[in-house]
Amino acid sequence: MRVAIYGSGYVGLVTGACLAETGNHVVCVDIDADKIALLKRGEVPIYEPGLNKLFARNSEAGRLSFTTDFAAGVGHGLFQFIAVGTPPGEDGSADLQHVAAVARSIGEHLDDYRIIVDKSTVPVGTADKVKAAIQEVLDARNMDVEFDVVSNPEFLKEGAAIDDFMKPDRIIVGTDNPRTTELLRTLYEPFNRNHDRVIAMDIRSAELTKYAANAMLATKISFMNELSNLAERFGADIEQVRVGIGSDPRIGYQFIYPGCGFGGSCFPKDIRALARAAEEIDYDVPLIRAVDAVNNRQKQVLFEKIQAFFDGELSGRTIALWGLAFKPNTDDMREASSRVLMEALWAAGAAVRAYDPVANGEARRRYGDRPDLILCQSSEDTLEGADALAIVTEWQEFRSPDFQQIADSLANPVIFDGRNIYDPRVVRRFGLKYFTVGRGEALS
Ligand SMILES: NC(=O)c1ccc[n+]([C@@H]2O[C@H](COP(=O)([O-])OP(=O)(O)OC[C@H]3O[C@@H](n4cnc5c(N)ncnc54)[C@H](O)[C@@H]3O)[C@@H](O)[C@H]2O)c1
Repeated sequence: MRVAIYGSGYVGLVTGACLAETGNHVVCVDIDADKIALLKRGEVPIYEPGLNKLFARNSEAGRLSFTTDFAAGVGHGLFQFIAVGTPPGEDGSADLQHVAAVARSIGEHLDDYRIIVDKSTVPVGTADKVKAAIQEVLDARNMDVEFDVVSNPEFLKEGAAIDDFMKPDRIIVGTDNPRTTELLRTLYEPFNRNHDRVIAMDIRSAELTKYAANAMLATKISFMNELSNLAERFGADIEQVRVGIGSDPRIGYQFIYPGCGFGGSCFPKDIRALARAAEEIDYDVPLIRAVDAVNNRQKQVLFEKIQAFFDGELSGRTIALWGLAFKPNTDDMREASSRVLMEALWAAGAAVRAYDPVANGEARRRYGDRPDLILCQSSEDTLEGADALAIVTEWQEFRSPDFQQIADSLANPVIFDGRNIYDPRVVRRFGLKYFTVGRGEALS
């Protein structure tokens, strides 16, 4: 089948590579000419495990190509996927300007039946707006062309995106035309072999399903984070509580890890967008707002612990920081907890020696050259001349460090662990002070 995908970011590139891998002919269209030039040279601008291989294989086979030419995209074929960003606007609402721009561009070049598939995360009612925007341009062109708009939200997780796309839990198809469901079912057939994962529904329900899924997951995290703060104050250990509640199958072990807050390009913006959309229809959503508020507070927790440890005297200190990406296996730093911590440390006059296995470049791109951000080549390097160590992202390579080396290198042998990755008894055996999230510092 022939597929055009607008937006060559995490979702667009993964979707393009996976659809090409199953034999489709995919053209990726982006307005960012530099990015398209890079992709044409065979370089992948993001870090996503497994993507490079799929990208190379399918580009070489001629099934995956890149362009800034919208006419070529619209002319390419039946499926027109929208996978552009929907970043938060100033009031928290989803900014739909990129989605609207793509809709207008499609309208400008449409001259045959197409299925416009919205993969971007968009508020309920957006498909209607996309339809209206395309129709408006068609009317201005005096064109009478049939088209359908489908909501097909994406559930991939950065860091495991290829696997998620290849073996999806579900394929949500929101449509008001059953024929498009069947055409999408055919496109997704290779990812759907051992049982039918297509869940067809109306368009508005599909749009809301994406927000509901992210809001539920974010709620689980904020719930555990709030409990972890309580555990700390009660002198209880949240990790034992976690295992205790996870054993109940109605609760389960997944997504109940306490930590220093969630980031990324989806959860924070999506819960804010959902709250904002509710506000627009005059309906209060205190639970959703609380999930965001708890998360914002949680992102301060590591800084508060560091500040308290040094009696508020952070000026002139250097903190070693492990992990910059918002989670392991990605270089994405959107809304990352590391940013909140670094910015608070800098405001207090401290410097940061940071290391991330893949996100150092992204940190440099965001913050530029500054004397209070030293990006190091290894986790060990960060310790040189540092007063303390903070762990923000739970990369595998941080899980079994040389604690003796950490204790010997730091001016103050202390670890502030935002992800609870160590056994406190082991760490303390090396004479290190160990501050965690919710493990009852009273126990330390
Ligand atoms: N990143 C994720 O893990 C994830 C998962 C599920 C859903 N989503 C949703 O998918 C959408 C895309 O997310 P992303 O992380 O891939 O975004 P991204 O920011 O990585 O990429 C967006 C791309 O769209 C391009 N673009 C902007 N305007 C354009 C236009 N008019 N025409 C063509 N291209 C244009 C940008 O240049 C950029 O390359 C968002 O709505 C997001 O919420 C993201």
